Amino acid sequence: MNPPESKSASSAQPSATVETNPSRRGFLASSALLGALFFSPARAVAAVAEAAAPVASATGEKTVAAALPQRVTLSCAADMAHAVSATWRSAGPLTSAQGQIAPLTAGPKFEAAVQSVPAEAFTFETDSGETAYQYNLTFNGLNPDAQYCFRVGDGQAWSEWNTVQTALDKPKPFSFLYFGDVQTDIRAQCSRAVRTAFRHAPDARFMVCAGDLVNRGHDDSLWGEFSDAFSFIAATVPCLPTPGNHDTKRPENAPEPEAPYTAAPAYHAHFHLPANGPKNAQILNGEAYYVDCQGVRVISLNSNVFDDDAPTDAAHKQAWDAQLAWLEEVLANNPNRWTVVTHHHPIYSTSKGRDNAGLRSLLRPLYDKYKVDLVLQGHDHSYGRTHKLAGDQIVDPAAPGTIYVVSVCGPKMYPFKPKFESLMAATASDKQLFQVIDVNGDTLSYTSRSIDGQLVDAFQLKKDASGASTYLPSAKA
Ligand SMILES: [Fe+2]
Repeated sequence: MNPPESKSASSAQPSATVETNPSRRGFLASSALLGALFFSPARAVAAVAEAAAPVASATGEKTVAAALPQRVTLSCAADMAHAVSATWRSAGPLTSAQGQIAPLTAGPKFEAAVQSVPAEAFTFETDSGETAYQYNLTFNGLNPDAQYCFRVGDGQAWSEWNTVQTALDKPKPFSFLYFGDVQTDIRAQCSRAVRTAFRHAPDARFMVCAGDLVNRGHDDSLWGEFSDAFSFIAATVPCLPTPGNHDTKRPENAPEPEAPYTAAPAYHAHFHLPANGPKNAQILNGEAYYVDCQGVRVISLNSNVFDDDAPTDAAHKQAWDAQLAWLEEVLANNPNRWTVVTHHHPIYSTSKGRDNAGLRSLLRPLYDKYKVDLVLQGHDHSYGRTHKLAGDQIVDPAAPGTIYVVSVCGPKMYPFKPKFESLMAATASDKQLFQVIDVNGDTLSYTSRSIDGQLVDAFQLKKDASGASTYLPSAKA
């Protein structure tokens, strides 16, 4: 588990997070094993030597290409008001991996305010046998609702100074983005969706990615495409991913993993997510977790754990039971006005021949019981957004209930042929989509757009003083 992030405010100084995540330790151990299986010293040395040529930096200084930060990605920290996490990699090993952060100022003379934070370093053997040098850190002790600039590197070779804003530690209007499956043609075509979405919500506090971020979780080149598609946006808006079935895929010749329903190591190399998931299933760290942001609790579940059949081995059963119990705990003890859950597999499928009846019977009663407002999903490569539902039925707009969404960001498309068409308020197919969700006190406004900017769907939820919501199906934002 990560140590608790400081909640001290005005005089807070950034501090380091020391990685003690048990699932990460497992990952490091598996990395070492994979390294023994795939490591090629000659190839690794050649790669480093090739990358080590001096290059000119933006300031005209000579630096070493092997040390230059690549794939800089922000992840949501558990305490978004006081912390943000970052990951990156380099082509060669760094002896002093670190981040620097300072309050954002209008002028360029902010050096005196810069705080340095050491990073955790580990190697990661990619599917092609190359060594990736990976780093992660958490900038803790930040002020709420404040703008910062940060960079990562080794003290000599640095990324650019990126900017990020912390959340306020109490409700305040904000927006966040939601993307369905990215998965295929990531660099070529998903980039269009991500960049258009950013133009529509440049101040988004975070980005929900509802699984299948890549087509083969073990394929490092696809994670490179993911980084290219999200570009500086991933270094500006923290990611809130949830693992899909494709994110679990290992190389065919790899040893059988301990938990094949968990994301492949490359997923964990690219994100540094809250370790506040089920305590007795820490293998789900970074996959089952939650964040609270300005009056909204967002919960990520690994829906790969809940396949339609009951688990047959003890470890899987433990993960299943632990995730389910943990979900109920974080739903029952939620001080926020709004509750959003994201997982990959949909409760109400939008694809022909798909149902997920087991998942539905497992989770829907909890969503009903705890009045979850919104469930954000993927997997079916089309768009379907339900009316307000409870007990698998459409309910009155003012009755307790939940809105369920399936969406798709990338170009892989399935026709819309659902079993649950009668429950859907809006559907679409053959469209790459993104969603902007605005939360403003008692009002949640949802818009879904295709990547040409056209409005595909919109609705609002309004809450009264008691917390009861009313669904406004025709509210076009
Ligand atoms: Fe999927």
